[in-house]
Amino acid sequence: MLEKITELINEVKNFETSSAEEIEKFRIKYLGSKGILKDLFTDFKNVPNEQKKEFGQTINLLKKSAEEKVNTLKEAIESAVEEKGVYGDLTRPSEPIQLGSRHPISLVKNQIIEVFNRIGFTVSEGPEIEDDWHNFTALNLPEYHPARDMQDTFFIEKNPDTLLRTHTSSVQVRYMEKNEPPIRTISPGRVFRNEDISARAHCIFHQVEGLYIDTDVSFADLKQTLLYFTKEMFGKSKIRLRPSYFPFTEPSAEVDIYWGLETETDYRITKGTGWLEIMGCGMVDPNVLKNCNIDPTKYSGYAFGMGIERIAMLLYQIPDIRMFYENDVRFLEQFKSVI
Ligand code: DAH
Repeated sequence: MLEKITELINEVKNFETSSAEEIEKFRIKYLGSKGILKDLFTDFKNVPNEQKKEFGQTINLLKKSAEEKVNTLKEAIESAVEEKGVYGDLTRPSEPIQLGSRHPISLVKNQIIEVFNRIGFTVSEGPEIEDDWHNFTALNLPEYHPARDMQDTFFIEKNPDTLLRTHTSSVQVRYMEKNEPPIRTISPGRVFRNEDISARAHCIFHQVEGLYIDTDVSFADLKQTLLYFTKEMFGKSKIRLRPSYFPFTEPSAEVDIYWGLETETDYRITKGTGWLEIMGCGMVDPNVLKNCNIDPTKYSGYAFGMGIERIAMLLYQIPDIRMFYENDVRFLEQFKSVI
């Protein structure tokens, strides 16, 4: 009889099915009220006392094995159903794809490019690692010129000087060296200055440089282009040009737009004046044209330069320049709807 029970234990261990019906049949066969185990417990009464211990243990083992088998087979079926719930229906809509958004600096840069493209300016680019000639000397900033201090420079090597460009004006030099007038180009790019980082200044930022060279270009042409730009970019058509100084332009000016004083923010950002400075500009200095092999007796031109961060901060009311570089998705996600 012991042998018979051991055989049954093996049978239980080897039993496999994935049908709930079969499991139930199996359960009734072994554990049911008229099942094998019930019979065995009845027979147990007739087992001689000295064998009772061994018998009892073996029957219990069979009972335990049968119960465990029923449970594991049931669990297997349940988890298969769950999996089917997740992956089973292939016609279900897929998980929504999280779309990224363009960085506000790229958005504003593209917008500036688009505005100038419409009046015939093409885009040109230059290297971020520059030499002294293109960043300074050709732009009428010879060695020891005091205006070099206006732009705190990151030097990479001395003699010959290699540096991180401090402005995108270096690209106008490269462009003039390679191209004949008429020239109409804008040069967006990243620039570097050895400055303390604060809410208003960063050591890495972006600029767009503009350059227009042709015969008979006058300050009036510059002013008209600036007016067009401010109208398209900000929807504002009142500007003023304040005399200023840049070594590469003569005369030079700073461009302010009339932002208005309608809200508290307007008051704050314009310091109560209503006016905001947005860029530098001027007529290209004849020395610069000469340095770039363009005859200043034949050609004249204007140039301008603006900071992209500054314009983005104005357009989107961003209070701190550092937000552009933190890559906090809570900030970046807010630009999803802007194309
Ligand atoms: N390069 C100047 C700067 O980084 C900006 C600038 C001013 C560019 C006047 C120009 C210009 O082309 O005419 O501050």
